[in-house]
Amino acid sequence: MKTNIGISKADTTKVITILSHYLSDSYYLYLKTHNFHWNVTGMHFQNLHKLFDDQYNALFSSLDEIAERIRSLGEFVPGSYMQMKELTCIKESKEIPNDREMLKILLDDHETIVRNLRNWIEEANQASDVGTGDFLTARIEEHEKTAWMLRSHLES
Ligand SMILES: [Fe+2]
Repeated sequence: MKTNIGISKADTTKVITILSHYLSDSYYLYLKTHNFHWNVTGMHFQNLHKLFDDQYNALFSSLDEIAERIRSLGEFVPGSYMQMKELTCIKESKEIPNDREMLKILLDDHETIVRNLRNWIEEANQASDVGTGDFLTARIEEHEKTAWMLRSHLES
């Protein structure tokens, strides 16, 4: 059935594109954070292993919310690695970085997502999709908080 929620087809398409990019970025960042949780080494192992644990779990929970927002707008979710690889701007780490490098990489990824979200919120609101605008506004705060925690480990 078609949705009848007061958003035009063209605007829905714009917002679905945004949410699909955001879902893919979040999925790739989730996997990278889990990877770092597994592979971190060094003097700060215990602290970083736990920090990355909290962060990958939070990202994992967000995936379902983002995907179900897409379904609420009446579209299907790009739910395959093949589709997400095309959509994401998050780069995978081929090597295992050292602990400080891991923090820098994750910080950079969260800050990239924050900058993207800032534009996407405006675009969603312009497309009359206040629901998505509101949802993404709550998400930007989460990424900003995570970025702060990562940044704090790098400051001395
Ligand atoms: Fe674990």
